[in-house]
Amino acid sequence: MKLFDQNHDQRLLESEPEFNKLVDAAMSRRRFLKATGAAGTVGFFAASPVSQAIANTKPSQSSLLGFDAIAISTADTIEVPEGYQADVLISWGDAIKKGAPAFSQSNDAKAQEMQFGDNNDGMTFFPISDDRAVLAVNNEYTNNEYLYQHQGKNISADDVRKGQAAHGVSVIELKKTNGQWQVNLEGRLNRRVTAFTEMEMTGIAAGHDLLKTNVDKSGKAILGTFNNCANGQTPWGTYLTCEENFNGYFADTSDNPLSESNQRYGLGKKDRGYDWYKYDTRFDMAQEPNEPHRHGWVVEIDPMNPNSTPKKRSALGRFKHENAALTVNDDGHVVVYLGDDERGEHLYKFVSKNKYVPGADSNRDLLEEGTLYVAKFEGTEGELNGKGQWLALTWGKNGLTPENGFPDAASVMIFARMAATQVGATTMDRPEWVAVHPSNKSVFCTLTNNKHRGVKASQPINAVNPREKNPYGHIVRWNPMNGDHASERFEWDIYVLAGNPDVHQSGLMAGSSNINKDNMFNSPDGIGFDMAGRLWIQTDGKYSNKGDFAGMGNNQMLCSDPQTGEIRRFLTGPIACEITGLTFSPDHKTMFVGVQHPGEDLAPSHFPDGGNTVPRSSVMMITRKDGGVIGA
Ligand code: FEO
Ligand code: CA
Ligand code: CA
Ligand code: CA
Repeated sequence: MKLFDQNHDQRLLESEPEFNKLVDAAMSRRRFLKATGAAGTVGFFAASPVSQAIANTKPSQSSLLGFDAIAISTADTIEVPEGYQADVLISWGDAIKKGAPAFSQSNDAKAQEMQFGDNNDGMTFFPISDDRAVLAVNNEYTNNEYLYQHQGKNISADDVRKGQAAHGVSVIELKKTNGQWQVNLEGRLNRRVTAFTEMEMTGIAAGHDLLKTNVDKSGKAILGTFNNCANGQTPWGTYLTCEENFNGYFADTSDNPLSESNQRYGLGKKDRGYDWYKYDTRFDMAQEPNEPHRHGWVVEIDPMNPNSTPKKRSALGRFKHENAALTVNDDGHVVVYLGDDERGEHLYKFVSKNKYVPGADSNRDLLEEGTLYVAKFEGTEGELNGKGQWLALTWGKNGLTPENGFPDAASVMIFARMAATQVGATTMDRPEWVAVHPSNKSVFCTLTNNKHRGVKASQPINAVNPREKNPYGHIVRWNPMNGDHASERFEWDIYVLAGNPDVHQSGLMAGSSNINKDNMFNSPDGIGFDMAGRLWIQTDGKYSNKGDFAGMGNNQMLCSDPQTGEIRRFLTGPIACEITGLTFSPDHKTMFVGVQHPGEDLAPSHFPDGGNTVPRSSVMMITRKDGGVIGA
């Protein structure tokens, strides 16, 4: 195979100790160059083609951005531009079914099963008619400090069940009354999908021994989805929900050492404080060592059929899935871009085996079978652009063989991270959301931040992850070769390198030249395009507004014109929240935006109810007072 002819990293990886030695040597050389000033990052960045291109733009002339930028905020409110308004659609604990109790912090598990889940994240608006729709919303996780009146100090069996019921997905019917969307409690399609909803594993890993448990000898009947981060949607009307930090719910109460694969997936002796393992044996790896293999997948849900069984799609690989950006390639193959959000992990894409046929029933199986690829970025350090290739994770090829720990094709999907390392994928600064431009072929991915970059020997600085410790994050853009999303080649550049030009006058920490004191932000996470091609950027970053982050305020949402590179701040969130999740009504006159975990870690937020209330994650509706299109 030609793929590895010039693959330096791959040859290094084939012998791990050698690899570390060489990387360490390279690292010390880099530090030496920095200390002596021989590697002037200021110089090479200023001269880079990307910064040149961006510097040549005329920011205030973007015809795509039709609103006035807003200032940063440290207030416990949501702020939008002049002429816009923001209203709450629904908050954690609000009823989504007739007869469900109203929100109270003392609600039990049974109540939570009929209420909107916690920590809303990615979401998709599915129109039914002009005044009827379904909104599918991820409920990523819970915060003990607010979920329970006792703040998690003594978690009971019902508490665990409540926590599990607050996770997953909320499917809610909306109706439009007097021009405004609202939740329809009578909706036949209202549904909660939780950490104990029955699901079906599909694709190559279905029924594999590594997926069999004491409870499920078939290896196909899986209970639940949780840590549902971001999302995707298909042209055949289904919703994709992505399982991200599933590892945090498992504990291993045995004395056995952790396996290499469990370590790679962040599974440990202890969970992250959810205590599910104490009352639900699925989450004690000592009792159910294979249960973690059943999570970390993309799940496909039919929001129009409340009795449908969600399907876990093993062909899309197992890792900490961020979102699933699906596009139909010109040749009909379905391509899904997928980020694995962890420091030093990778960026993937899936190409379906079969083709999309508008209106055909067969579309429902398109995510069952295909090829999973992982990205290798090539380029010269300091140039901030280059070429790249997609390396196929095909069993039997590229070293994905039994002698390297891959006994069969299913094991490549179950341990996709290790397969990615085996083929020489590029370590990334936490790939979060991917978004495909609606009318040209460019694709964007947020790389949120990475304190290990250039610090850990396994994550040396590289062309596409150019900044040591990367505290601010960046967005990479690529164009598939010949506009073909199924191509194994692409060209990339860095669209924006977030930074703080007030604190750092020059160099990579100042950010690219489309960053200025009026639009500073850190840790881009959610991104998405509207139909006009405006790129919306949401942040999940440091909100201290101090030091390196001074002048950035609370987490926010910005809007960018990819033609000019201009970025304007559109929205700011309340105290200690993250802004995540976005979707539009088809007329683009209502935008739905998520406010996640306001007041996390007991920060002083009472959003959205005010007074002395418990802060609650909420879906906001953004509209224009003149009824116009958002952003225009
Ligand atoms: Fe759930 Fe990577 O954010
Ligand atoms: Ca995210
Ligand atoms: Ca994030
Ligand atoms: Ca979050």
